[in-house]
Amino acid sequence: MLKHLLSGADLDAATATLILDTAAEMATVAGREVKKLPALRGRTVVNLFYEDSTRTRISFEAAAKRLSADVINFSAKGSSVSKGESLKDTALTLQAMGADAVVIRHPASGAPHRLANWVEGSVLNAGDGTHEHPTQALLDAYTMRARLGRIAGLSVAVVGDVLHSRVARSNVLLLATLGAKVTLVGPPTLIPVDIGAALAPGTEVSYDLDAVLPTSDVVMMLRVQRERMADSYFPSAREYARRYGLDGPRMARLPDHAIVMHPGPMNRGMEIAPEVADSPRSTIVEQVANGVSVRMAVLYLLLGGMH
Ligand code: NCD
Repeated sequence: MLKHLLSGADLDAATATLILDTAAEMATVAGREVKKLPALRGRTVVNLFYEDSTRTRISFEAAAKRLSADVINFSAKGSSVSKGESLKDTALTLQAMGADAVVIRHPASGAPHRLANWVEGSVLNAGDGTHEHPTQALLDAYTMRARLGRIAGLSVAVVGDVLHSRVARSNVLLLATLGAKVTLVGPPTLIPVDIGAALAPGTEVSYDLDAVLPTSDVVMMLRVQRERMADSYFPSAREYARRYGLDGPRMARLPDHAIVMHPGPMNRGMEIAPEVADSPRSTIVEQVANGVSVRMAVLYLLLGGMH
C-alpha cells in the first residue's frame, strides 16, 4: 500500500485513521516499565538530518528504538556532505548499508521525493524546506483527537508565518482529508496564495485573529521563521505580537473547550505569550509525547504492518 510518507496528500482518510489508531496502541507501550516492542528487530532505520532539529530527530530515534530497530543517526555536520558529497551519493551509501527506512530532513523542498527514487527502502519526510512535514500533521491530528474526541467538524485556526511553514501545509492537507475546517490567519505578506483553497478546497483565509478566535476549537500557533526571512514581512516584532501573538486576554476569547497548539520551537513573547504556552489549554508538551507514538505507528506500518 503506502511505501513512503512524503506529503500529507499521501494519506487518505482510512490510512490516516489507521495510523492514528495504531499510534494509540503504541502509546500504551510508553506507560510500561520496558518501553520496547520487537516489531522491527533486525531492520535498519537511518535518520538523515541536513537541518537543525531537536524534537523531530529525537522523536524518530526514540520511535525506532522502541520498535527494536537498529538506528543510524547521520547529521550533515561532520559528514562527507561538508566535503561536497551530493544527496544522491549519500543515498547510494545508505542503500549499500541496507537501510530499510530513511528519515530525512532537508532545507530543500522536494529532497525527500528525490531520495525516494534512489533508495529501495521507505522514505519518511521529516521536514523539507518550506514544503511539508507530514508526521507533524499526524501528531497534531492525534493530539486534537485525544483532547477533543474527534477531528471531523473541528474549526482549526492556523496562525502566523504560514509562508515558511511546512507544518501548516501538511496540516491543511491532512485536516481537510479528515473533515476539519482550517482557517489560515496572519498578515497578508505571510499567507501565500497557493496554500489556502488552492491546496485544499474549503480552506479559508483571515487577516483578523480576534475575529476568528471565538469560533475556533483549535488554535495552532506557528513559529515566526526568521532564519528563512531575507526580507521584512512585518514592521517589527512588537507590532507582529500585538496583531498576531496569542496572549492571555486574546486566549480568553476562545470557547472554553478550545486548545492551543504549537509545533515548537517557540518564540515565547512573540507568537505566543508564556502564560498561554504554560496554560492548561496548551497541548505543546503532549504534542511531543504523541509524536513518538505516531512515528512508531508510521514506521511500523510502512516497514511491515501495512500490505
Ligand atoms: C517545525 C519544523 O521544523 O518544521 N518544528 C518541528 O518539527 N517540531 C516548526 C518550526 O521549525 O517552526
